[in-house]
Amino acid sequence: MNAPLLELRKLARHYRVRSGRGWFSPAQTLRAVSEVSLQVRSGQTVGLVGESGCGKSTTARLSLGLTSPTSGQVLFEGRPVPAQRNAHWKDLRQRMQMVYQDPLSALDRRLGVMAQVIEPLSIFRRGSPASRRERAARVLGEVGLSESLWQRYPHELSGGQRQRVVLARALVLKPSLLVCDEPISALDVSIQAQVINLLTQTQQQRRLGMLFISHDLKVVRQVCDEVAVMYLGRIVEQGTPEQLFTNPVHPYTEALISAIPTIQRGKVHRRILLKGDPPNPINIPGGCAFHPRCPIAKQACRETSPVLREAADGRRLACLYR
Ligand SMILES: Nc1ncnc2c1ncn2[C@@H]1O[C@H](COP(=O)(O)OP(=O)(O)OP(=O)(O)O)[C@@H](O)[C@H]1O
Ligand SMILES: [Mg+2]
Repeated sequence: MNAPLLELRKLARHYRVRSGRGWFSPAQTLRAVSEVSLQVRSGQTVGLVGESGCGKSTTARLSLGLTSPTSGQVLFEGRPVPAQRNAHWKDLRQRMQMVYQDPLSALDRRLGVMAQVIEPLSIFRRGSPASRRERAARVLGEVGLSESLWQRYPHELSGGQRQRVVLARALVLKPSLLVCDEPISALDVSIQAQVINLLTQTQQQRRLGMLFISHDLKVVRQVCDEVAVMYLGRIVEQGTPEQLFTNPVHPYTEALISAIPTIQRGKVHRRILLKGDPPNPINIPGGCAFHPRCPIAKQACRETSPVLREAADGRRLACLYR
């Protein structure tokens, strides 16, 4: 089989942070991401979910080479992403694009819509000025922005329109990988559905590989082919949406899934409330990092860190007792 589009191999990213306010407070190690291995194939959407601070955005930045790993490797089409910003890195940056949460901060306030979409082509010196304009116009049409909006500035657009401009800016370079970090959380519920449809349509038409980060588990279930659940920087369970949402096995996935509000009438919904302190990546518990909050933890969980192994049904799972 061909090499995956994106492959993360045992990635770790640590930060040195000061624990107190003063200059002389001791520095500590914050383990944002540990041992993350993951693959994204062309045409596949892989979701990353987990509580705030569990390392999703750091994994996204590592995937694009925007942050360098403390250890481990990122491969794009089977080749390591270079650590230095050389010609190979520049080529890769065109083929891997990011869609961020806040469209307003991702756009240049001084540029109109058309100019925003032409800009990446100019930066990478793609084609002649006339062909850049033509290409930008085509992509703006694809994302559903009519010509009447092309001269407007970001502040003159709605949130949904802005996110379409961000997407057009990403797509104009014909990327093969799209990393979406909370692409819809700043949008109105009605607009969210439109942007999601647009993303999935584009992804299917162009056979893009997509890494999709969202707190909205219903959307993740709808758009992803695979979902990885992270806890304190590690993947604790990974499988198809069907596997994770109808039969979560890791106690943390179970709790996460149980928190999805359901509106089915007559159905008794039991939300699992996790006990214990919220997770802190500066002070990760020994053994299984989830053990202080885990409803089924035993003595061994304090001592042994479970490895992420393949279960009988093909999902990946890191739990000593499940
Ligand atoms: N540049 C940095 N320096 C120090 N710590 C950092 C840095 N970037 C991220 N962190 C820390 O790494 C951890 C993971 O952060 P990250 O942004 O990846 O989380 P996340 O899962 O994306 O959270 P959210 O859902 O809130 O966006 C957090 O504890 C964060 O404070
Ligand atoms: Mg984040």
